[in-house]
Amino acid sequence: MAVPVIAIDGPTASGKGTVAGIVAEKLGWHYLDSGAIYRLVALSALKRGVVLTDEPAVAALGSQLDAAFRGGKVWLDGEDVSTELRREETGNAASKVAALPAVRAALLARQQAFGEAPGLVADGRDMGSVVFPEAFLKIFLTASAESRAQRRYKQLIEKGLPANIDNLRHDIQERDARDASRAVAPLKPCADAVVLDTTLLSIDSAVQFVLDLVAKRRVGTLKN
Ligand code: DC
Repeated sequence: MAVPVIAIDGPTASGKGTVAGIVAEKLGWHYLDSGAIYRLVALSALKRGVVLTDEPAVAALGSQLDAAFRGGKVWLDGEDVSTELRREETGNAASKVAALPAVRAALLARQQAFGEAPGLVADGRDMGSVVFPEAFLKIFLTASAESRAQRRYKQLIEKGLPANIDNLRHDIQERDARDASRAVAPLKPCADAVVLDTTLLSIDSAVQFVLDLVAKRRVGTLKN
């Protein structure tokens, strides 16, 4: 039987990573943070001085990426890059390399390899549309740009990273526009996705919403 997949897509700072991680934990399933893979490629390019618009060179970095997710940390070429990965500069660079078709193609199989038993919760921009089109549940998690800027600000401050609310608001709008307007796998809800606006919802309510849908769709779909 095919491994069941829940795809959670949405714009940056919509809470999809947090929600997807908790849902995966509650179900005892694997979790894929696909944004982290694009961030790793961008970081690898920045560290090696590869120009972010050099499509073949960045795609080659993507195919050879020496990365690991272990013990709650992320490793790149044997170095713990967990903190660097979450920086806004890394996110913005990731959004640029993610617009290159050859980079997306180079990362496809690597992302699909996370689909292992007993199941996978994957979050990103194109989980439901491109990477796991057969996902039995597709969620599009969103929130207003203002509330996403506030959430990202709080997250960065809590991690001891630099943050400025006006810059964040501006970057989020710019990143949304780039992610939504690119030619390949643009950010938009799939026709078969359930849209959930979390502007006024707590993380717990969003998690419960997803778990309720899982319970409904699992009947007849899954055996555990
Ligand atoms: O979710 P995030 O902020 O960590 O993602 C960083 C960037 O990577 C985001 O601006 C767009 C890109 N991305 C993508 O294009 N496709 C994905 N599946 C995940 C992320």
